[in-house]
Amino acid sequence: MAASARVPTADGKDVFSMRIISASNYEGMSRKAASLLAAQVVFKRDSVLGLATGSTPLGIYRCLIDWYQQGILDFSAVHSVNLDEYCGLSPEHDQSYAYYMDSNFFRHINIQKENTHIPDGLAEDPDGEGARYDALIRSLGGTDIQLLGIGHTGHIGFNEPAPQFVKPTHRVELNRKTIEANARFFASEADVPRYAVTMGIGSIMAAKKILLAANGEGKAEILYEAFFGPITPQVPASILQLHPDVTVVADEAALQVIGEKAPEAMKGC
Ligand code: F6R
Repeated sequence: MAASARVPTADGKDVFSMRIISASNYEGMSRKAASLLAAQVVFKRDSVLGLATGSTPLGIYRCLIDWYQQGILDFSAVHSVNLDEYCGLSPEHDQSYAYYMDSNFFRHINIQKENTHIPDGLAEDPDGEGARYDALIRSLGGTDIQLLGIGHTGHIGFNEPAPQFVKPTHRVELNRKTIEANARFFASEADVPRYAVTMGIGSIMAAKKILLAANGEGKAEILYEAFFGPITPQVPASILQLHPDVTVVADEAALQVIGEKAPEAMKGC
């Protein structure tokens, strides 16, 4: 079910309208989020999809692969731009995001390899790489829909809590909590890269549509803070309150705190 959250300003105007789509569990969240990406590709064959890694989107990619295999979806004209990549990992490293995207999605569908884009984690000049990546996204006509997960710190991409929002794609030092959270994918915490290249807040906000997926009770508090707390670079996802087209697809566990503290946003959900 879907509901939409309107936040009135002092003069009574709505400043944003975020849709919340609730699912009973991870599988349901995955199917609902995947169906929004699928609709985008059906409506526009040459869509530019902004993609994410991590555990949240795995079920979404499984659904899209399934629908491709059933002949429902065609990715031959699609372009993709990923949010981020660890610094220092080559695309062949099994924990690089390039490897993740290939093994969990790209190699199972008919997207053209040259149409898939991920920041270069090996770039010697990370600032130059950021500028190249933002120019590339612009040259594709911009991102039609950006899929996001949310970190426990409130990060989107690898934009960690900071004194200010950083707009362009840039190199970033990972937050301690993020390193701990991502250590589960590496042999040890010491192996987790300390830096990443990430789309900046401006690069993410430039997407025409945002689709944020979240599951599990571990995301419940930060999801509430991001969409109902103050807009602050200390909770980077809170900037999404200023985006005109945001859909949050989450399971009941992740929506628990919103349900308790902002029940009006969940009406019809
Ligand atoms: C991944 C990314 C991150 C993740 C976030 C949530 O490309 O940019 O922001 O979306 O860390 O990760 P999971 O889904 O593993 O909880």
